[in-house]
Amino acid sequence: MIARGGAVRYGCAMQRPVGIDLISFHTPAYYLALDTLAGVRGADPAKYHVGIGQDRMSIPPPDQDIVTLAANAAAPLLAKSGTENIGHVLFATESCIDLSKAAALFCHGLLGLPPRCRCVELKEACYAGTAALKLACEVVRNHPDERVLVLASDVARYDLGSPGEPTQGAGAVAMLVSADPRVFAIEPECGFHAEDIMDFWRPTYRTEALVEGKYSTRMYLSTLRSAWEGYKAASGRGLADHARFCFHLPFTKIAFKAFDRLCRFEGIEAPAMEEQEALLSPATWYNRQTGNTYAACLYESLCSLLDTAEEDLSDKRVGMFSYGSGCMAEYYAGRVVPGYRAHLFAAEHKKMLEERTELTYRQYEDIYTYGIPQDGDSHLMAPYRSGPFRLAGLENHKRRYERAE
Ligand code: CAA
Repeated sequence: MIARGGAVRYGCAMQRPVGIDLISFHTPAYYLALDTLAGVRGADPAKYHVGIGQDRMSIPPPDQDIVTLAANAAAPLLAKSGTENIGHVLFATESCIDLSKAAALFCHGLLGLPPRCRCVELKEACYAGTAALKLACEVVRNHPDERVLVLASDVARYDLGSPGEPTQGAGAVAMLVSADPRVFAIEPECGFHAEDIMDFWRPTYRTEALVEGKYSTRMYLSTLRSAWEGYKAASGRGLADHARFCFHLPFTKIAFKAFDRLCRFEGIEAPAMEEQEALLSPATWYNRQTGNTYAACLYESLCSLLDTAEEDLSDKRVGMFSYGSGCMAEYYAGRVVPGYRAHLFAAEHKKMLEERTELTYRQYEDIYTYGIPQDGDSHLMAPYRSGPFRLAGLENHKRRYERAE
């Protein structure tokens, strides 16, 4: 049934819950501190830490790309759950490495997934991760014995010295979607909004995105209203029905702007900043440390919330807002499954973030300007610190990946 404002309500009360059974996140082992960037660009560091709410940005070395980031995110999850009954791999990205072959197929090979598997790549800027997750839920509702692997992986790149530069980042999230999930049950009601605009885009001949930064932020916040209204019409719920919120995080300050808007839409005075910090910050810690991970952002935020919130979130409803430039927005919610903590990768995520190597500005710029060889000759990639998978080299315009450990 479709109601006003893109509101959608599905199904019958007897359906088995569907959602995220396991979720794991991976980011490169290298970062640039935004204090370092501020020094070189002559910016006040507080503009980055406070003004946009970012501390570090993850930098992928030349032997990491969206395929290895995604495979590295999925490896621990599959080690725990096995590969049986995975009938789909849905790969969401806006940093594609091939205009024809789906990155899902490279991952399918690296991860040893069954041949009876539908592998595709999805694109709609940062919204694609949500599109993939929602499609996965539909597949599982129709085939409850099947599991779907959703991979969201991106490398956020803007021109050097541009306003977008301090919001760069890289990372991937892997989610196993199943019936009777152990971590996050996704509720069917949602509201969404589509509009043909040019706020952020990347023509096929460019490796860096182009962006109308302020306009994109305004559109993010105005489409939040349509998506929220649609969700309210579909669910009959209000703000008080939500214990926590995860927002798409191109920079973490936007979570506070978005929450403030939700309060205003509802005619409620936003709580004091201290209270907002307690409510919203756990869902921003990881993103503060990695920068924008585009399609993976919202689910990195969910990982951050589940891993770091001190309070037991069992049975709590979490509101989820997804925005992809161009533009597509969706608001939906899910419930945290009791006992979820036993199924998280919180210790692994903490270790990964703590053990990263800091780059100097010169090292960052060297990596930034290193272009992947385009001559079709044989090239071996020097090994950097990576996860289990790395790009070993190129030959005849083909990427060759390998297990690093
Ligand atoms: N101390 C504290 N705060 C400071 C400060 C200081 N010394 N100096 C500036 N600030 C504050 C400003 O007041 C401003 O705060 P408000 O937004 O609350 O007004 C904030 O820091 C940003 O400063 P500017 O207004 O000067 O903005 P900017 O020119 O640096 O650009 C940006 C900011 C537009 C976000 C830019 O980083 C950008 O273009 N980023 C890429 C695009 C983007 O992330 N868009 C978001 C929506 S689109 C989307 O979500 C899809 C996606 O993933 C890309």
